[in-house]
This record gives sequence, structure tokens and C-alpha cells, in this order.
Amino acid sequence: MRLLLFTGKGGVGKTTLAAATGATLASHGRRTLVISTDPAHSLADAYGVPLGPEPKEVTRRLDGVQIDSRHLVDAAWEELRRQLRDALAGAGLDALDAEELTVLPGIDELLALTEVRRLAMTKHWHSVVVDCGPTAETLRLLALPEAIAAYLRRLYGWQPWQGSSSRTKRGVASSVAQLGRHLESLRDLLTDHEITSVRLVLTPERVVVAETRRTLTALALRGIKVDGLIANRLMPAPGMWRGGAASWLRARRKQQDEVLAELRGVGMPELTLVEHRAEEPVGLDALADISQQLYRGGDPLAPMGEAKDHGEAAMMHITANPRGGYRLRIAVPLDPGTDVDLARVDDDLAITIDGFRRLVALPRLLRSCAVVGAESDAEGIVVHLGEPEEIR
Ligand SMILES: Nc1ncnc2c1ncn2[C@@H]1O[C@H](COP(=O)(O)OP(=O)(O)OP(=O)(O)O)[C@@H](O)[C@H]1O
Ligand SMILES: [Mg+2]
Repeated sequence: MRLLLFTGKGGVGKTTLAAATGATLASHGRRTLVISTDPAHSLADAYGVPLGPEPKEVTRRLDGVQIDSRHLVDAAWEELRRQLRDALAGAGLDALDAEELTVLPGIDELLALTEVRRLAMTKHWHSVVVDCGPTAETLRLLALPEAIAAYLRRLYGWQPWQGSSSRTKRGVASSVAQLGRHLESLRDLLTDHEITSVRLVLTPERVVVAETRRTLTALALRGIKVDGLIANRLMPAPGMWRGGAASWLRARRKQQDEVLAELRGVGMPELTLVEHRAEEPVGLDALADISQQLYRGGDPLAPMGEAKDHGEAAMMHITANPRGGYRLRIAVPLDPGTDVDLARVDDDLAITIDGFRRLVALPRLLRSCAVVGAESDAEGIVVHLGEPEEIR
């Protein structure tokens, strides 16, 4: 099974490209499901067929579904809400607070992701393509399993789903345990590089360059693989045309080319270009045409260009400092001038890059070493640590 997630800023073409990819996978003989998690559903419009909360056939081997987590009343959802409420109530928050917390923004995304996993795990489809919401929501969605797990860990002071239930009431412990296992299963699915990858869609405009870099950094920090960067709505090259319209096109294309050149920087996956069509790409024929530019007849599951591997294992590299202590290198693509903040939280290192925070468990060797300094360059962060103080 493969899981492809499409994300990018609002209106850049996520739905169109996810729909085109799904249709091409099906035409290559793979049973495919395209899922929209964006509350503003337009997947049905892209295919020109009605779709709902249950998978529905679009064409041979291709199904589509639009998840509406806000209106899900299924028992599984109630169960997840109950686990979350009990877990939070057990941590000393009173019932009302806990109830309010379960309707916080973010919970919808957690539910949507749970539904994506449930559908993917039915093994009914070989490929599952997800048309996610805009980048900010997707990042929050992808960060949520880990964020909530870390929050619970901190509230309870131990890994509740692995520890004994003696420190708290049995019912609460079992809810926390279930929720913990559930969050871990979501995180495992998202960070499994054999199964899941993200394709980032952008339009070649100056404002998107910085945002694209930030998104790549945030995804790398979470150990999520990006295997495609797609620049959509590229102006056609006007060639030998003359006249006012041609010079407008030429100027616009020149500007877009400059942005693309800027994007082909360090740590970026290769760019795939899709031209701006005169007509809206709606319906299977128009989508097939888009797909031809995207994949050039090749397998849509093949990586379109991989960012440097920032998997958990590859991300950290420890070297002994000849002057004593250690250096820990954390590889993430960073823009010069990026705002990086580091803090030690117990055995974790809290790394905040441009507002995105991630807890990274310190390797065992370094847990008793004090952080004595840090610096960053385009390749990532280097943390300087002192000598181990005691053997734990
Ligand atoms: N290459 C293209 N050429 C012409 N029109 C395009 C192209 N790609 C997308 N469009 C059109 O642009 C509009 C926005 O595309 P789409 O809905 O796929 O974007 P989106 O990123 O999913 O937007 P949203 O953030 O609102 O969900 C649609 O009307 C779509 O048909
Ligand atoms: Mg969309």
C-alpha cells in the first residue's frame, strides 16, 4: 500500500493534482482511493461526479471520498473523543475543561487523519491519495499525533501506554493507553518512508519561496518524507509571438523562471512543472492531460525528486568534540536567517524553527550532557554538549 499526501497553499492546485494522480494510478491498473480531508471539498468538482463521506466509484478501479470529520457520528469517533476526554480529565482537568478541549481546533484534523488511516488499513486499495487542506492545517494535522502524545507524556510523567496503571485510576489509564497507542500508530504511518510521502504543490510566485522552504523544514523535522515538489500554473513560453499579450506573457514567465531558479536551492527536491491551462482542468480527460505533464507516462508512485533523507535515524549525527564533550548535528534544510530556538526538556531537545516546535529525544549517550551552545547553517543545527556528568 502507498499513501500520497498532496498539500500546498490555498488555491495552488492541490485538489486538481491529487485527482489527476489518482486517475492515472487507476488507469495503470492500481485500485486507488482519492480522499479529500479539506472541509471545502472540491474533489467532486474536479472529477465532475458527486462524492460523499463513503467511498464511491469515480471510474474503473478509482474511488473517491470526501471526509467531513465535523459531522461524523460513527462509534469510532465517539470512542476517540471519549479517550481524549478521559485522558485529559484523569490529568486533573475538570470535566468541563476536558470537554472543551476535545472540541479544540486540531481535533477535527486528528479525526480526519484517523479516518484516512482506517480507510488505508482496509487494504481494499493499493494506493491512497489524499487531497489535504492548505499547508498550515496539514502541518498541524501531521504534527498532532506527536504533539498530543508528548503532552500526555508530560502530564502523566511517564509513557502511560507502556507503564503500569498503579499510578492512576484504571479506567483513565486504559483510555490514555488506547489514545497513546492510537497516536503512535498514526505517527508510525506518517513517518514510514516505504508507505507515506508528501507532494508539495506551489505556484511560481515570489511569496511562496520562503513558505515552501519553511514547509520542507517543518516536514523534515517531523521525519516525514517529501518526494515531489510541483510548480503548477506555469505560464507557457510565448516563443516567437509578438504584440502586447506576448510581452505580458514573456514578462510573467521570466518572473516565474526567476522564482523557480531560486527554489532549486539546497535540500530541495527536483521541481516538476505543470503549465497553466487555458481551460479549467475538470473531468477525467483534462486531468489525464495534466498527469501526462506531471509523470510523463511513468509511474506516479515513483519519487518525483527526493529531498535529502531526513528520517529519524539519518537526522542526527553525533561526533566527539576533540576539546571535550560532543557535537550533535541535526540535519534539516534551513534558510539563512531562520529563527531557531533550542531548549532542553528533560531527556528531549525542544527545537523550534520559525514557530514549528518538535521534541527530539536525545540519544542515550548525550542525556547526561549539558547543552553548552548551538549554531545553525544551511544544512541544519549543531548542538554542542559538555562531558557526561553522571552515568544514569
Ligand atoms: N494547471 C492548471 N491550469 C489551469 N487551471 C488550473 C490548473 N491547476 C488548477 N487549476 C484551477 O485552479 C483552481 C484551483 O485549483 P484547485 O482547486 O486544484 O486548488 P487547491 O489548491 O485544491 O485549492 P484550495 O486550497 O481552495 O483547496 C481550480 O479552478 C482549478 O481547476
Ligand atoms: Mg482543494
